[in-house]
This record gives sequence, structure tokens and C-alpha cells, in this order.
Amino acid sequence: MNCVILGSGKGSNAKAILNAWTNNQLGNAEIKAVFSDNKDGQILEVAESYSVPSRLIELTQFSPFISSEDSKSLIKSVNEFSPDLIILAGFMKILPTEFISIFNNNIINIHPSLLPSFKGTNAIKKAFEFGVKISGCTVHWVTEEIDQGKIIAQAPVRIMETDTLDSLSQKIHAAEHVLFPSVILNLSYSLP
Ligand code: GRF
Repeated sequence: MNCVILGSGKGSNAKAILNAWTNNQLGNAEIKAVFSDNKDGQILEVAESYSVPSRLIELTQFSPFISSEDSKSLIKSVNEFSPDLIILAGFMKILPTEFISIFNNNIINIHPSLLPSFKGTNAIKKAFEFGVKISGCTVHWVTEEIDQGKIIAQAPVRIMETDTLDSLSQKIHAAEHVLFPSVILNLSYSLP
């Protein structure tokens, strides 16, 4: 199962996935490339440190959306790696319908809350400020609607009285780094 990772930031999830792959913990999955729209994020360096091809996505418009023209060139570049699965690991752009359908909806995303609670950006902060006692992370299929696709797996994280936003963020990220590779491992036996 050929996988391509798309991200925008630090790349800690990409690192956890690449680490699991290096340790033969991803079953039939192979990480073929890592793409990022952010040249200042660390995710491309993470890919390079694992000797995986890294690609900067050059977007022509500054927007959360990807224009039709940019989408065509992104599809072309991603297709060079013949992906069976696209993994969104902190990818901050909204993918257009044509991108999602061309890859047969085989796109997964990780979100740092227990969906359907706290969709969108700043999910950890929203959960912390709301005062929920359990939050966590979710891996779901990607659809046109943000954070609305079918849930594949979730991991809960308890929020203690002593937690700060920082400590909660660290606990949720640690849970993500276990959940995401385990989902990819399972999918590697069910997707081509
Ligand atoms: C993660 O918390 C993920 O849930 C969210 O974006 C963050 C990406 O972090 N979608 P990183 O770049 O993987 O460190």
C-alpha cells in the first residue's frame, strides 16, 4: 500500500509514522513521499532525515483553500508516487473535491479531539477551555466537509485538574503518535 503524507507544520505525526515504518510496524504500508505547503515547517526535514522524498507544494494563492489550478499540479505531483492512501498529518489546507475524488476518497486525517466535539482549528484549546474531562484524538476519512468524515479510530485522553493547556497538548500528541500508525497498519491489510 503506497502512502503519501501531506502536512504543514512540525511533522511530529509524520515522524511517528516514519518511525513505525522504519521499525516494520506498518504492515504492507510504504511511505513514498512527504509533501508540505509550508517551507518553514519542519515536516520536510523530518522526511529527509528518514531518506523519504520530500516535496514543497507551491501554492499560488494565500488562502485556506487550494485553487483549481494548484489542485491540478498537486494531483500530478502526488500521483507520481501512485498512492493508495493519502495521509493528512497536520495539513492546514482544505482539499478540493476533485482531489478527494481522484484518490477514491482514500484520504485519512488526524484531529486532536474526540470528534464530533471540537471540530476545526485550536481543538485542544477549545476542549481545555470548555472544561471537558476527557478529550483525545480521532482518525477519520476525509470528505469535503471539514472533520466530518466517517471515524476510523479514536483514543481518549483524561484531563486532570492539574493539567495545563501545554500538558494536555503533550498528552494528546503522544496519543496521536500511537493511534495514527496503528490505523495505517490496519488499513495496510484492507486497502490494496
Ligand atoms: C496534530 O495535532 C494533528 O492532530 C493536527 O495538526 C497537528 C499536527 O502536528 N491535525 P504535527 O505537525 O504532526 O506535529
